[in-house]
Amino acid sequence: MTDFEPRIVAFLCNWCTYTASDLAGTSRIQYPPNVRIIRLMCSGQLDPIYVAKAVLEGADGVLIGGCHPGDCHYQSGNYKARRRVAIIHQVLEQLGFDPDRVWLRWISASEGQYFADTVTEMVAALKEKGPSPFRRQWSV
Ligand code: FES
Repeated sequence: MTDFEPRIVAFLCNWCTYTASDLAGTSRIQYPPNVRIIRLMCSGQLDPIYVAKAVLEGADGVLIGGCHPGDCHYQSGNYKARRRVAIIHQVLEQLGFDPDRVWLRWISASEGQYFADTVTEMVAALKEKGPSPFRRQWSV
């Protein structure tokens, strides 16, 4: 399993975590290339079906990033995201999918290093866990 490279789908808020990922890039901060980013205007825009689709199509992990509590540009979107992710964790557990593969992190626009560290940490954690059970099930 040493050559296993996790595939991470990241849903990032435009105003904070997406900007942090951009800052990491423009600051030339190194982090693993295992993440595919989908930009949302707010973490509150996260529809649980997005996470379900990513998981069912073989993502090994899902990262959801938003503004710190109290900093959401739409007042309460990140609080809604937090409640949704709690429910998503419960549903995934019922499906036999390890909920620890879905991370929610608050990363502000100025935290490029924290974004890079989060991706690095998530890749390491997913390498420990191995491929998604859904990936194994669907792959030929
Ligand atoms: Fe960033 Fe709402 S605008 S979480």
